[in-house]
Formats: sequence, C-alpha cells, structure tokens
Amino acid sequence: MTAQTDTQSKAETPTKKLYVKTYGCQMNVYDSERMTETLVGQGYEAVDKPDDADLVLLNTCHIREKAAEKVYSDLGRLRKLERQRGVPMQVGVAGCVAQAEGEEIVRRMPQVDLVVGPQAYHRLPEMLQALRAGKGAQVVTDFPVNDKFADLPQTRKSSGPTAFLSVQEGCDKFCAFCVVPYTRGGEYSRPATDLLTEAKRLVDSGAREITLLGQNVNAYHGAGPDGDWSLARLVREMAKIDDLARIRYTTSHPNDMTDDLIAAHGEIDRLMPFLHLPVQSGSDKVLKAMNRKHDADSYRRLIERIRAARPDIAMSGDFIVGFPGETDEDFEDTVRLIEDIRYSQAFSFKYSPRPGTPAAGAEQVPEEIKAERLLRVQDALAKSEAAFQQTCIGQTMPVLLDRPGKLDGQMMGRSPYLQNVHLMVAAERRGEIVPVKITEAHRSSLGGTLAA
Ligand code: SAH
Ligand code: SF4
Ligand code: F3S
Repeated sequence: MTAQTDTQSKAETPTKKLYVKTYGCQMNVYDSERMTETLVGQGYEAVDKPDDADLVLLNTCHIREKAAEKVYSDLGRLRKLERQRGVPMQVGVAGCVAQAEGEEIVRRMPQVDLVVGPQAYHRLPEMLQALRAGKGAQVVTDFPVNDKFADLPQTRKSSGPTAFLSVQEGCDKFCAFCVVPYTRGGEYSRPATDLLTEAKRLVDSGAREITLLGQNVNAYHGAGPDGDWSLARLVREMAKIDDLARIRYTTSHPNDMTDDLIAAHGEIDRLMPFLHLPVQSGSDKVLKAMNRKHDADSYRRLIERIRAARPDIAMSGDFIVGFPGETDEDFEDTVRLIEDIRYSQAFSFKYSPRPGTPAAGAEQVPEEIKAERLLRVQDALAKSEAAFQQTCIGQTMPVLLDRPGKLDGQMMGRSPYLQNVHLMVAAERRGEIVPVKITEAHRSSLGGTLAA
C-alpha cells in the first residue's frame, strides 16, 4: 500500500482502537511497540484498556507454565467483556505462546482471529486484510527468510527518556529447561548500520538511555560496514552518538562475555555499571544437566574479571530451583554462590517443565521442595540486595529522571545501577540526568535529594 492510499483510507474510515497487552521479557515489550507502530500505520489508534478496543493483541510468553496459562484465562476474560459490551472484538495472540502452540490456540479458543509468531508480525497488515476479506482465522508462525525488521515501518520514535532496541534475537544454546530456541528460533543479529540508524532516531525523539536487547545479546555479531561487529564494537560506536548518555545491554550468557566486552566496561563511561548475567545454579552437576556449558567456578572467575575492569559494577542474575536431579547439596551450592557474588538484584524461579524441552520428561523434584528452596533462595537474594542498597546511602549519583513519582512534585529516575530513585524535583526536568544524594534505601528503590 502506498502512503497516499494509506492516508485516503484513514480519512474515510474512523480510527479503530488497538489494545496490546505484553507478557514476558523486554524483547516482547520492544515487539509490542513495533506491532503498535505497524498498526498505527494502518489506521489504528493505541488505547490502554481493552474495553472499547476493536482489536486486542496479546503478546505472550511461554517461558514457564504459569505465564502460558495466563493467556488462556485472559482470553476467557476478553470473551466475557465482548459479550457484555455486545460489540464484536477482534482478538490476536502474538509472541512465544503463538509460536509454540500455533493452530492449537484457535482450536482451544475459537474466538481468536489471528495467531502470529514473534518472527512474523511484520505480516499483521496482510493478516488483518485477509480477516476483512472473510478468509477465517489467520495463523502465521513461520520464520521468515528475510529480516522481519526490514519489512517494518522505519518510523520508530522513543516514548520517553529510556528505550529498548532489539539487536539480536533467538538462541542456539539449548539449555535443557528453556523454550526460547524453539519459540524465537536460531540466533540472528541485526545489521549494525540499521541499529545505529534506529538508535539515532530514538535519541532524536528524546531517548537518553538505550538498552540493547537480545536473548543472548553478547553473542551479537551483526554485519557492519567493515565486517561483522561484536557487541563491544556496537556499544563503542553507539557511545559516539552525541545525546545518548547511557547504554545498557541484556540478557547475556556467561560463555559469551568476551575480553573486548569486559574491557568496554572499563573504558566506556556511557556503558552503565550494571550487568544481568544469569547463572541459574551454583552446582556443577546441575549446570551440566542444564547444558549451560560452564561451571560455577568459571562463573565466579568471570565476575572477578568483570569487577577488575569496572570495580563498581552491580551484578544481577537468574536462578532456577528444583531442576530435575537437584539435591539438597546442589541447592546449598546455589545459596553459597549467591552469597559469594553479592548481587544487587536477581530473579528466581521454580523449575517449570516445558513441552518439547529435554528436561521436561525427567523425574521431577516434588513441588513442596521446590517451594521451600525458592523461599530460601529469595531470602539469600534479599539479604544480598539489601546490603547493596545500603552501600548507596550517602553516595551522590547521576540519576536519569524518567517518570513522575507517586507524590506531588516528585519524580522517579534511574541510577547507573538500574535502581529506581525518587526525589522531589520539577516535572519539567524529565529526561535530564541530575546528581542525587541518596538518603534512603528501600527494598526496590532509593530516595534522595537533588545535589547542587
Ligand atoms: N537468555 C537468557 C534467559 C532467558 S529466559 C539467559 O540465557 O540467561 C529468562 C529466565 O527465565 C532464565 O534465565 C531462567 O532463569 C528462567 N527460565 C527459563 N526457562 C525456565 C523454566 N523452564 N522454568 C523456570 N524458569 C525458567
Ligand atoms: Fe534459554 Fe539458555 Fe538460550 Fe538463555 S541461553 S535463551 S536460558 S536456551
Ligand atoms: Fe517469554 Fe518469549 Fe521472552 S518465552 S521470556 S516472551 S523470549
């Protein structure tokens, strides 16, 4: 469709309302923005409630059973809403559940009009067209031969001072518990020049901080003008964009933390001193069974090297408890690792067997043991997090003001270590990086006052 016919059709038809709900990881947040942008180009207007939406898209997550089941309960709720309001609603399922379950979703929930996988959403306009033509439910879950990003509108704007930018997708690691290699496909890195263009566009529209995203972001190896670029090279080049004050990247795999990336943490001021580096378990036996391809000590040594390059770096991680075969002893190794590393924040999960993954068929750890271990891990992490929060008191740190706070005259911002910081400061200063003296430490935020 040309730009001209697009405007004409917009003028003739009233705007249709689109509601997108996002589950799961930051990559889904990014994809939701791109889907919205695509549909806004088709005459939709984004709204923040499903109540009077013409089209509802659920951008779903398949990582754990609970996440996937939530989609079905939300679909049930939407059906009820549709009945109550008496006006039909189109419903689409996107994201990783769409990829994993495909046609099955339409069989189970005949109200669903379209199912679109995470690598296929550039085809949404044609799918909606087919629906309008009365062609019945549309299901597209193939992995395209071309880069889907090339087929998306190149109009991306930042909606605030912080923005996400997907640079790499998919995963070739096949950890024994994980669905990502199946739902997102193999590793793919976007061309570096496209990313620099998109980053500049985000900065021009107000982003001061960009988080580079990938399921395995440090495996990035995208085509650059002079051969393939590593993530370190990409970060170095992005750091040259004038008004881009801060760069982050997530999520990384320990085995892809190369020397040049570690060095970048010591050399590039704009690369923020915070790193999410999941290890999952502290037991070598469990790590082997998980197919993580590293042991606990190599992870400890890696963190030492990263801290040598950037002494104040704050570490984050992910932990799975109750993986098949995990004994009390294995579990104690995980607690010990948590105590050794001193995380500033971390996520922990009970192992959830996922269909089609190697560990799903193994004998499972009983639910009550998983629950008990989760509590213990969370307790160890809470201690480590609280200790980190305490070290911040008395420090003056640069805070990027990014959103209004709960109180009148209050703003929230981000510290270099990805903490939420609240302070009293004029709302017009949104987007500025200001020095803040930290005076309070809470569980998931800091409080402070404007310094100077
Ligand atoms: N690519 C990232 C993680 C992606 S999934 C990495 O390699 O670290 C995010 C987190 O969800 C994982 O780190 C893991 O801790 C958790 N997770 C993944 N599959 C899971 C499962 N089957 N059960 C419980 N937690 C899981
Ligand atoms: Fe999943 Fe492992 Fe790949 Fe992370 S590295 S996305 S946990 S398979
Ligand atoms: Fe979930 Fe897919 Fe992200 S399974 S965690 S939405 S890659």
